[in-house]
Order: sequence, then C-alpha cells, then structure tokens
Amino acid sequence: MDQDSNTVAETSLPCVKCGNTARLQCPKCLELKLPQEGAAFCSQDCFKALWSSHKSVHLNSEVHTFRGNPQECITAALSKGWLYCLKKGQARTKQLPYFDWTGTLRPYPISGQRFVPDRIPKPDWAVDGIPKIEPVSDLQNIVEIKTPEQIERMRKTCRIAREVLDVAARAIKPGVTTDEIDELVHNATIAAGAYPSPLNYHFFPKSCCTSVNEVICHGIPDARRLEDGDIVNVDVTVYYDGVHGDLNETYFVGNVDEESQQLVRCTYECLENAISIVKPGVRFREVGEVINRHASMSKLSVVKSYCGHGIGELFHCAPNIPHYGKNKAVGVMKAGQTFTIEPMINSGVWRDRMWPDGWTAVTADGKRSAQFEHTLLVTETGVEVLTARLPSSPNVFPW
Ligand code: MF3
Ligand code: CO
Ligand code: CO
Repeated sequence: MDQDSNTVAETSLPCVKCGNTARLQCPKCLELKLPQEGAAFCSQDCFKALWSSHKSVHLNSEVHTFRGNPQECITAALSKGWLYCLKKGQARTKQLPYFDWTGTLRPYPISGQRFVPDRIPKPDWAVDGIPKIEPVSDLQNIVEIKTPEQIERMRKTCRIAREVLDVAARAIKPGVTTDEIDELVHNATIAAGAYPSPLNYHFFPKSCCTSVNEVICHGIPDARRLEDGDIVNVDVTVYYDGVHGDLNETYFVGNVDEESQQLVRCTYECLENAISIVKPGVRFREVGEVINRHASMSKLSVVKSYCGHGIGELFHCAPNIPHYGKNKAVGVMKAGQTFTIEPMINSGVWRDRMWPDGWTAVTADGKRSAQFEHTLLVTETGVEVLTARLPSSPNVFPW
C-alpha cells in the first residue's frame, strides 16, 4: 500500500470517504493522470480506509489503457507483475520481476481459477472482479446497527467460516503447498453452500489468503511448499445467506523457533485483549491503544496500513478500526454493530511493502509478521465472538 499521499494544491474537493475538505491526493492517481475527483482524501486515515477499493481505480484504468492491443497489454502487465490478474489467476510471471525483496520468501506459480457452481449465490465481484455496491454504499460512512434477523444470518455465516478455517488448520504441515490449502478452503466453502469472498474480489485470484513468514497479509496461495519452521496465516471469508464472515489464524509449521512462537502468542493475546474491551460506549480508537500497549511490552511493532473493518452484507465497510496507538478512528461502539479486529504484529519494523503482484504485503525489513482475526458482534452487555473456536476446532496453540 502506498503510505504517503501528496498534498492537494488549494482545491476544495470533498474527501471521497467522509466528504470533509480534502488535503491529500492519491499519488498513483496523479502519476496515472486520473481525475482528481475520486482521488482526494482529507487524511491518511481516510485514504487508508478506502485503499482496498480505491486501488482498483488504478488497475481498471491501466487495463483500459492497454485494451485493444493484447501484446502491449501483456507486456505492460508483466512489467507490473499483474499477469495473473488479467489472466484471472492462471500464472505469475515466469521470470521474477525486479524487486528489492525484503526477506527470503519468493512468489511461486498460481494455479488456474477455481470453479464455483451456479447454485452458489455470489457477491457482485464474482464475475468481473469489480465490487459495485460496496464502494458507493452509505455503509462506508455510517456504522449499521444490524437487525435480529441480520444477526442470526451473521451467526450462521461466521460459524461456516470458522469450520472452513478449521479444515485448513488441520492440513498445515511441512510439504503442503499453500495452493493445496486454498483448494481445501474452496471446496469446504462450496460444500457448505457458501462463496469464498476473496475469490475475484478486486481481481484477487484465490479463495483465501495465505501469508507465510514475512508476509503481513493478503498472501496469494501458490505452489510453494510449507517448510519446517515456517509460520503461516490462513485468512478465510465466506459469503452465505447474503452476509460475510471473516476470520484468520497464524499456525506453526513443524518446529518453530522460540522468537516466532512468542510473536504468534503475543499477536493472539493482542486480539484477546482488544476483544475484552468491546462493549457499547467504548471508542473505536481504544482498540489500537490496547493492542499497541501489549505489542510494545514484547518489543514488537504494529502494522498501520491494514485495519479492522465493519462487515455484514458488505465485505468491508465502516467502521475503520486501526490497530495502532494514537489513531484517529471516529465513533463509539453500539449494540448490534458487527466488525472485525485483526491485528498484524511484526518482529521488527512496523512498515510494510507491497510485492509487484499488487497484493502480497510484506514487512519492510523481511522479519516475521503474525495476525489473528475475529468477526465480532457488540451486545448490550459486551461482545459475542461470532467466529469463536468450537469444541471441534483443532488444538493447534500450546497456550
Ligand atoms: N479477509 C481479509 C480481511 O481480513 C481480506 C482479504 S481480501 C482479498 O479483511 F482480496 F485479499 F482476499
Ligand atoms: Co477482515
Ligand atoms: Co480476513
């Protein structure tokens, strides 16, 4: 993700996210000479909050630019590491693109796009990769209070998501490829009558995210085999009965060194501590304070570019919930809201970089990163963890 956006020169454009006067301009939009409307933001927080939907503006414009000349299109896509996007997940570039790799992990080939039967109800990006309702919905600005009927659907969907993640968890061992994990997730999701929400979301080519070692989040499942000593996060989101349920966990592959075990455990505790403060009246910005306090105690750092989010009929919506301290998140929690908390904690620096594939977020220093995520419901008295572990969940954490 681009960290820094440029200052807008004396215009009074409204912020695309919140409507306040904009002071920042997306640097990529400037570079691509895209219209300033739709690229102006009042703050880094609003820019970051909208990033996952905003970045597809860049991709769409480049796809348009090269459309009509297939060779030029493919050459341009290759140089940008986007071939798998345009060809819907068939391959990554054969030759590694030039990149100042931050750690030892490298991309491997990506398998072809998996099939979803016609009988599975799909979100609106399933066919062409572009979410249509989500980016323009009022629910990007106002935090919805779910009805009892919506809450019941969220419970069912989140339980399916948990059961699908548990299928992945049981398969983690040295020698398994992350593509095989993705296949298990895909098939278990469809067997439950659900759609794997990541599949084709802003052109994401696979059905879950698998983030190994220095990958912070949004790792693309590929042909690399898990190695003894790796850590791997699996992030599952399913769409069922019109709503999404989102969770992730970080697993140990074989025998993992003490430092990585502490990283994963501390990250788990960061999420637990954050959940423990959730109840009506608590400010969303408090979540980041709790997580930052616990991570700094162990001299670990908190990722800033990716945040927790509202969830329901939309995959990502308001509220935006930063995990870092001194954040400027707006609003207080109310009974009936559903959102995720999903802290990403690093062994070294907090800064992230993006691989040329446009998805894989890695630590800037190549050190390891861990993450845990739950979908939560604010209740009258506190919180219900909709994606909570089940009696049947595999016992994969030693604490
Ligand atoms: N599940 C991720 C989250 O926690 C989002 C993945 S979007 C994808 O918000 F496109 F990368 F799959
Ligand atoms: Co999430
Ligand atoms: Co997730």
